[in-house]
Amino acid sequence: MNKSIKNSIIYNVYPTSFFDSNGDGVGDLKGIAEKLPHIKQFADIVWVNPFYKSPFRDGGYDIEDYYSIDERFGDMNDVKALIDRAHKLGLKIIFDLVVGHTSDQHKWFLESRKHEKNAYSDYYVWNDDVFGWMPGGSSISGNSERNGNYLINFFCFQPALNFGFRQKTLPWQNQYTDEACCKVHDEVINIIKYYLAMGLDGFRVDLANSIVKEDVGGECSCEVWRKIFGKVREEYPNAIFVSEWGEPMYAVKNGDFDIDFFTHCHNDGYNCLFRKESGSNVFASDGHSFFRKDGKGEAKTFFDFFKMNLEAVKDKGYVSIVTGNHDLPRISIGRDADDLKLVFSFILALPSVPLIYYGDEIGMPYSKIKSRDGGFIRTGSRTPMQWSADKNAGFSTTDGELYLPINENYKTVNVEAESKNPESLMNKVKELVATKREYAELFSCDSEFELISEEYPAVFKRSSNGKTLYCAFNPTEREYETSLPEGKIISSMKAKQEGEKVTLAPLSYIWIIA
Ligand code: NOJ
Repeated sequence: MNKSIKNSIIYNVYPTSFFDSNGDGVGDLKGIAEKLPHIKQFADIVWVNPFYKSPFRDGGYDIEDYYSIDERFGDMNDVKALIDRAHKLGLKIIFDLVVGHTSDQHKWFLESRKHEKNAYSDYYVWNDDVFGWMPGGSSISGNSERNGNYLINFFCFQPALNFGFRQKTLPWQNQYTDEACCKVHDEVINIIKYYLAMGLDGFRVDLANSIVKEDVGGECSCEVWRKIFGKVREEYPNAIFVSEWGEPMYAVKNGDFDIDFFTHCHNDGYNCLFRKESGSNVFASDGHSFFRKDGKGEAKTFFDFFKMNLEAVKDKGYVSIVTGNHDLPRISIGRDADDLKLVFSFILALPSVPLIYYGDEIGMPYSKIKSRDGGFIRTGSRTPMQWSADKNAGFSTTDGELYLPINENYKTVNVEAESKNPESLMNKVKELVATKREYAELFSCDSEFELISEEYPAVFKRSSNGKTLYCAFNPTEREYETSLPEGKIISSMKAKQEGEKVTLAPLSYIWIIA
């Protein structure tokens, strides 16, 4: 367990859209390095989405070569320089590990699809008859000279690497412990070690629960990750692994991941906080979130799932609550700056290693634009970072086309303007982060968590070494009163305490140490 990250915040950078250092209209690695000081104000760990060589039919999650950098982003020297610069600034940096599948243009797959048996024939999950049935997920038929179908992991061009099945019931299947699968494990270990040797601090692991097929509960996938991490940690004991799983009680407890994200998948806990309204999620929904002015939401689903997971990961690792990511519509949909201040005050107060998606700290909007690079509904959350009111929002000097159009509100919603406005969302987020850092012991994942109210206003406490932090949140248009021990207010918005009486005006929160 990596205790050094217990009070960390992760900042997620989508590389095409953060900063364009060479004026070609697309963000790049040098651009990220240049803007690390901005990130440092909000976070301790930077996670960069994929920048490896790729046909980019799924935003780089379709990797053609794990050991080459896509030329739009730079080269391996830029990767090294980015890692070094992050470390000089005291930031940790992690990349994406996308090994549930490759691109169908990866050389392993181009070999695997051949009729002749070769060293890569078993690198992917094939059956032995193009007219035969294939359990384990979606499969592609008739797309190779080899007489078989292959499983995909996501889109049609992302063939699943062969981590095998939980149980071998058909002749062409491998059980997850078979030698063929161990060869794939070795490839994964090699990729991980290659970047760790360069100084990288760890990885966010894409679709971590998807690797072993027909594995309900993920026990066998967890066993494989334990084996892989065990081998890596012999050499790199502090390597950080963050899973895209959505159930820390499996990923962290059984799979030895350090952190697992709470997102929109597998459980409604996260959604009920922020993403129940239609258009606010990738999944169709038409409900009410807890963090909405109408006050019609519920947080029980969240707190039940959260508490259960906290208990499960104790002494093993951490949960991460996200403001968003490259797969979700922006959290700013239907929320103004004050609503978002409240969202941040809540996320940053929970015992988690929270994640800030680039631009959420300034309330960047979601753009209704057409899909690019397999983004579909997700494309609108991947628009260029709004740095200033200058040309191209300060993202790029190009006179040509940008990777994606800048959102039209960039003249007012941008880093420069918000840094000059003491009331801005960005300055509030900075203040919250600074307070979380100042009282690190109380805010760290190690401090005890106790829920006081899951109704409006939500109230919980955190305790460590005889000190207690009380946090209360009112995201609605109604005023509420509650009672909390009198103490020192370390952060608040539109809330006050007189004696034990706490008055929470509409859209308010308070953090008190008592
Ligand atoms: C999850 C990633 O976050 C998403 O962007 C990608 O499309 C799929 N995995 C497939 O790799």
